[in-house]
Amino acid sequence: MTAQFSNAFDFKDWSDERLAQVEQALKHGIDAHAPAQLGEAMRYAVLDGGKRLRPLLVLAAAQAVGVDLDAATVSDQASSLAALKAACAVELIHAYSLVHDDMPCMDNDVLRRGKPTVHVKYGEAQALLAGDALQALAFEYLTPQDGSTELSVQAIQVGLLARASGYEGMAGGQAIDLASVGLPLTEAQLRQMHKLKTGALLLCSVQLGAVCAGKPSSTVFEAFTKYAEALGLAFQVVDDILDVTSDSATLGKTAGKDAAADKPTYVSLLGLEQAQQLAEKLYADSLAALDASGLNTTATAALRALASLVVQRKN
Ligand code: IPE
Ligand code: IPE
Ligand code: MG
Ligand code: MG
Ligand code: MG
Repeated sequence: MTAQFSNAFDFKDWSDERLAQVEQALKHGIDAHAPAQLGEAMRYAVLDGGKRLRPLLVLAAAQAVGVDLDAATVSDQASSLAALKAACAVELIHAYSLVHDDMPCMDNDVLRRGKPTVHVKYGEAQALLAGDALQALAFEYLTPQDGSTELSVQAIQVGLLARASGYEGMAGGQAIDLASVGLPLTEAQLRQMHKLKTGALLLCSVQLGAVCAGKPSSTVFEAFTKYAEALGLAFQVVDDILDVTSDSATLGKTAGKDAAADKPTYVSLLGLEQAQQLAEKLYADSLAALDASGLNTTATAALRALASLVVQRKN
């Protein structure tokens, strides 16, 4: 996957290091002692599983605009902490969305990240509450009380994450998804659904990273937005493909659910081959957008590798 990039950038090393930072920050911040087993359910939903694509996008975007993710000095630490906390925050929103997505009133799934889903393990009421609490906790991560990140950055990040999570983002997309069962959507309608339910949080991840060191130039911000829009759609197209082509053991979630539930997907609309071609085209679009950012390929190496991962992934 990384062969096409310069030898100077080793994606595996980079992501191992970043994932360790994120894992530690999540473990540290989700209180196991929250009342009545709520903390246990929250930790079960978030820890030990998931590709952590959204946190990696936050960190890659932050690094691309010059944030030193291993900052040692206090002045540099504000932006690197803002990036790490935003990386955790978006993963918490994502984890909450998965907990609710799997509930019987939504997709009614029993397997997630290779484990029984949260409502199977802890019951529906606890799953609902764990999702609620994870959503709130995301915003606690973005607003640390110790003054470790700039208030102006906090305010921008809270606005970005709130909008990407709510009715004009993920929750709105999930509403369209549920309302579309059995309906033959047009390509434009399907794209809009995917843009909200999945694309919004992926776009937000890149934007959260881009603002960690203050306001980026409009050229960079617009290029990153185009990159993330293409990547976000590619991500859900691939999710639709894997639902058909993969198996539950590889995915860590139940394969074949979309057709069984009569969900409109890129595969049901275009067929497998055209859906795969679309994912490849979107990958190329995402790289072209980075080319237009004016940043060099060293700065954007992690973002490029993550786009490749999105279309090459097997789970
Ligand atoms: C799955 O997301 C849900 C969708 C938005 C399609 P991921 O494939 O990123 O799930 P994890 O986080 O790796 O489990
Ligand atoms: C879920 O989409 C998207 C969100 C959780 C916001 P899907 O329902 O397709 O995700 P999977 O396939 O269950 O992971
Ligand atoms: Mg769903
Ligand atoms: Mg689902
Ligand atoms: Mg799916």
